[in-house]
Amino acid sequence: MSNSSPIKVFITGAANGLAEVREGLADHPEVELVGTAADPAKAGPKLAESAAQVILHGTSATDHVPLAEIEAIRAVTAAPIILVTSASANSILGEALSAGIFDVVLLPQLTDGIVFTVKKAHALAAGRASGAPGKASSSVEGKVVTLFSPKGGSGKTTLACNLAVIFARRHQRRTLLLDLDLQFGDAAIMLGIEPDKTIYDLVMARRELDSDALAGYVTAHQSGVHVMPAPLRPEDAELVTEERLGHLFAVAKESYDVVVVDTPPFFHGPVLSTLDRTDQLVLVGTMDVPTIKNIKLTLQTLDLLHFPKERRHLLLNRTGSKVGLNPKEIERALDMPVEFEVESEREVPVSVNRGVPVALANPRASMVKALGDMADTLVPVPAKSGEGDKKARRGRRIGR
Ligand SMILES: Nc1ncnc2c1ncn2[C@@H]1O[C@H](COP(=O)(O)OP(=O)(O)OP(=O)(O)O)[C@@H](O)[C@H]1O
Ligand SMILES: [Mg+2]
Repeated sequence: MSNSSPIKVFITGAANGLAEVREGLADHPEVELVGTAADPAKAGPKLAESAAQVILHGTSATDHVPLAEIEAIRAVTAAPIILVTSASANSILGEALSAGIFDVVLLPQLTDGIVFTVKKAHALAAGRASGAPGKASSSVEGKVVTLFSPKGGSGKTTLACNLAVIFARRHQRRTLLLDLDLQFGDAAIMLGIEPDKTIYDLVMARRELDSDALAGYVTAHQSGVHVMPAPLRPEDAELVTEERLGHLFAVAKESYDVVVVDTPPFFHGPVLSTLDRTDQLVLVGTMDVPTIKNIKLTLQTLDLLHFPKERRHLLLNRTGSKVGLNPKEIERALDMPVEFEVESEREVPVSVNRGVPVALANPRASMVKALGDMADTLVPVPAKSGEGDKKARRGRRIGR
């Protein structure tokens, strides 16, 4: 997010004069046009993959804001939207601002004027994403949501990345994704980002860790999630001591509303230290007997650690196929309810391979729906009018 690199702009929609805007921006050194799409509803994956930092949306409507089109853009990107329309549309400014649109540009305009608005939108959005000066949006301490499974490949990282995106984009919470699969963490690659720094740099730094320092070690994803990636080299994992981790959690809880933690498929020092700070633990199971047996053992370990039962939640991943085991039997075997179920769906590995979380590529996917319910339940949006709690109760899926 350096100020010197051109700002990635995606143009959607149609309006008189938008073609001239596009031509002007194409030659401008401070802007990089990363794509165009007349119909935002059909632009989903293209728009998500473009990593656009600002969206210019053209509309010929002069008396109303095209809310369905704006919603389609919002479904795939958190980038600020600038509405571009004709001069007779100045009456829609109020409606546009209350719909969360950054600004309205009335055409015709000089390219430099449009670039100025683009730069302003980008600077404000980047400031918001960096969390400067590093305080959570509410005075309440951030909540730590940890995903764990005793079985490799059960979907922890995929679920953690998408859950973080949902907290950041749909719930508008300041969200940190902390990759504590310290040897083979792949959260950054699943989100399609190439971080400059990892948790290794943070633990090696001499500087006292505070909110400002933490902001220098995270990488902002286009969804708004901040990512603290695992070390690049497996041998550096052991440098992440429990003491440094404890300090990191303390500062992260001050700086973020939600900290989503991805873990390796075994208990070790950092995982135990994480459990001490975990508000909500999601145990990820799959529909096979060995995994369920190992979750049973995990529950016994949690008992020994006195990890409270009310903070434990069971998610079954890749349900839907007939494998001779059903959720009821799993509930009986584990003596706890299956609270969340995520179906097996082809789109998930496709999105993983593209580096675009399914929560951005296709908000209608069943994984996104289930994780949306889970987000509502685990960390309800602070209720202005009790709405968050109501939603959480509605979304909870307990037993069958
Ligand atoms: N609901 C799902 N439907 C289809 N594929 C899925 C689903 N959930 C996860 N996968 C796929 O399973 C694979 C393993 O997922 P993931 O890497 O998230 O597991 P993990 O538990 O983090 O593994 P590890 O223990 O190795 O870190 C990925 O390719 C992912 O796309
Ligand atoms: Mg993983």
